[in-house]
Amino acid sequence: MTVELTETSDAPESSSQASLIAIGSGTEWWRSAVIYQIYPRSFADSDGDGIGDLPGITSRLDSLADLGVDAIWLSPFFTSPQHDAGYDVADYVDVDPLFGTLSDFDTMLARAHELGLRVIVDLVPNHTSWDHEWFKAALAAPEGSPERDRYMFRDGLGENGEIAPNNWQSVFGGPMWERTTNPDGTPGQWYLHIFDVSQPDLNWENPWVREQMLGVLRFWLDRGVDGFRVDVAHGLIKEAGLPDYTPPADAGSMGGGLPPLEPGIDADEPETPPYWAQDGVHEIYRSWHEVLDEYEGDRVLCAEAWVEPLTKLARWVRPDEMQQAFNFTYLSASWNAPELRTVIDTSIHAFGTVGAPSTWVLSNHDVVRHASRLALGADNLQGDGIGPASPGLPDPVLGLRRARAATALMLALPGSSYVYQGEELGLPEAIYLPDDARQDPTWFRTKGQRYGRDGCRVPIPWEAGKPSYGFGPTTASWLPQPGDWDEFSRDSQNGVAGSTLELYKLALSLRSEHELGTGAIDWLSGYGDDVIAFSNGAVTVISNIGSVPVELPVATVLLASESVDEGVLPVDTTVWLAN
Ligand code: NOJ
Repeated sequence: MTVELTETSDAPESSSQASLIAIGSGTEWWRSAVIYQIYPRSFADSDGDGIGDLPGITSRLDSLADLGVDAIWLSPFFTSPQHDAGYDVADYVDVDPLFGTLSDFDTMLARAHELGLRVIVDLVPNHTSWDHEWFKAALAAPEGSPERDRYMFRDGLGENGEIAPNNWQSVFGGPMWERTTNPDGTPGQWYLHIFDVSQPDLNWENPWVREQMLGVLRFWLDRGVDGFRVDVAHGLIKEAGLPDYTPPADAGSMGGGLPPLEPGIDADEPETPPYWAQDGVHEIYRSWHEVLDEYEGDRVLCAEAWVEPLTKLARWVRPDEMQQAFNFTYLSASWNAPELRTVIDTSIHAFGTVGAPSTWVLSNHDVVRHASRLALGADNLQGDGIGPASPGLPDPVLGLRRARAATALMLALPGSSYVYQGEELGLPEAIYLPDDARQDPTWFRTKGQRYGRDGCRVPIPWEAGKPSYGFGPTTASWLPQPGDWDEFSRDSQNGVAGSTLELYKLALSLRSEHELGTGAIDWLSGYGDDVIAFSNGAVTVISNIGSVPVELPVATVLLASESVDEGVLPVDTTVWLAN
């Protein structure tokens, strides 16, 4: 088919050089993989207790192979009192009975590998649970003991040590310090917890801690995992002296202030908070890289690091550190073409400079689902969530339309993309959760000031008309599911032309057929500022993010996020055309 694309001779400087740097010379699978995030407690429940589990995951893996993703990442399923949904680990090398057993894990891993799916697990190195035996030993041991030195214990200020050691505020709200009680009942030292009080921070200056975590990496690598998503990979080292710090008002809870990018300009490097992004973290990741190198195959470390600007984040993925870092600048970008163009260009360039692929992500278990976020009518900081009283609640129809267009854009970009369970069904944020059902520590620690992240964590629907929409065999669901989710269930979308599920399947299969993940982008001009247009190999991608329809060139439409008629691209729509 002949393609008559809009004239490109007056295109702005082509970014293809930067893109080519991005794909580098490597052939490792993670450079271009689409990785599906499973949030185990909300994916599939095999025993009907309302909490998803490993056998549930195993039983549903075929659907993910069918979807066409390359790998899965599992959020924590380790032993934990679940004060932060498993990100409070009490034993790094065992499975919590809620989720099953180590043998269930092995079965799940084997099945995933059989289906050609790689498996990444979550590593939570910044803090343990307060139920971890290391922390219990630290509390029982005297001040100054080796056991205490594994954590961040400090004396309080004031005459009787009654004032916290500094002014830091926890990500989930309230102070970042908790005072302990000595075995004899007298008030004792304080310990640091960036997150919940039940998540004491480890002291990563202590070689013993480093050694233990290398053992944890080896434990899971020996079992056959393909890599790790590293929680809070920007938090392990704190500035010496723990100086007072007050974050800017527009900083998201994980530290990303994420100011909108000016077209063509990378954001200035903001002040580094004393508990985020300290240079000392990098030698830790170099030592982990060496451990991964001991193993066959291409294993991967992916940094969850809310670090700005992207040029700074790129330090996490230098050749001897991690392989990937989540691109939260992309996730945080508004539905705005100039901003998106800039962040895409900047990402490809910044990561490419160190030989790493860019990653792309729109949703995860910590942010408002993009089918709602992209239609929000008011600012919403990461971690705040939305609920019934939030300003600017989204129009669900507009949100889903934009989400489909945004996903079609993302999956055409070179590099590796992350997909969060349920987004392939077009799931919106669950906004109307009853207050007494909420479980995120953010909700409790801010006394309801911030809704937190429960709305994106509701168990996903598999089968319309079934109890818990087929999430499990009973009606039980650890967070209540909205009553109108039949239309989002997988079985009601499977094989239905135009459904969000079929859009994802088509995008993933075309992406693989045309090798878009290892491609490069060339911007196309002539479409106006509100349109994103580029070619990636044999495919031309056009997203209309403006307010008026746009004329399309004559070409075969490979994929469209909404139906397109008579060569016109409606607003909030993405198409892929054959070149
Ligand atoms: C980031 C995780 O994604 C989030 O869910 C968790 O609450 C914090 N880290 C603390 O581990």
